[in-house]
Amino acid sequence: MAEKISELSGDAREQRIAELKKKMKESAAKVKAAHAAGELPTRTAAPTPAAVAEAEPEDAVAEAVVEKPAREAAPATNGAAKPKPAPAAAPKAPPKPKTEEVVAPVLTNGEMTRRELLTYAWGGALALLGAQAGLVSFQFMYPRFRAGEFGGKFFLSEAEVPPAGVTPVANTNGKFWLVTTEEGDPKALYMVCTHLGCLYKWETSNSRFECPCHGSKFTHDGHFIEGPAPRSLDTFDITIENGQVVVDTGSKSLGGPATESPARIVV
Ligand code: FES
Repeated sequence: MAEKISELSGDAREQRIAELKKKMKESAAKVKAAHAAGELPTRTAAPTPAAVAEAEPEDAVAEAVVEKPAREAAPATNGAAKPKPAPAAAPKAPPKPKTEEVVAPVLTNGEMTRRELLTYAWGGALALLGAQAGLVSFQFMYPRFRAGEFGGKFFLSEAEVPPAGVTPVANTNGKFWLVTTEEGDPKALYMVCTHLGCLYKWETSNSRFECPCHGSKFTHDGHFIEGPAPRSLDTFDITIENGQVVVDTGSKSLGGPATESPARIVV
């Protein structure tokens, strides 16, 4: 193992220092050569471990020897050697071509899309079609009666209307009894009993209408007298048009309550 410089003296010390300086110069020359060749500085330019081992850290001279190559290695980038070439900048990527952005329609409140508009249009068309179909069906199915048949109008001459106090006249096609009240007004009585629907008859012997089913009785002009019937006889609307008596069997009026009948007999 080499002796420390501090332990040497005289010529040995000078020789030792000269050897260290020589190694230092050689190291500097290597570093310079490496930079001249374009190589990046590496730690190989630093003093070799052997040189460091030979140096004496506590010795001022040895410290100078050890540090100098490091300083020379560091300024290798700014000394006589060429500066380290900066890495070539990465080529800029060509700008991306601009593409048209597809912007979704932004709807505000109250606006509708085309799909919704078509949906509503179809719905409206179907609703209109359904309404028209319903109207046609109703007109087709609605009962329409011709004159002279039950449900329609009957045109009678005044001579066909019996005078007041005379036996009522039956119109079987129109299902009514034609009478004249004590006040002189013509009246068309519906032939069906207001109790359960039986056909009542005129009883000449009693001068009243009587129902064969349950015995309800009515006056000449249809007022309730007695029996289970809940009301007086129903009537059809009757008018005088152009000197004719018109009975509309499609328009019926219900008789008054039996309890309010002026001919009612209280037992
Ligand atoms: Fe006429 Fe019963 S149906 S009294």
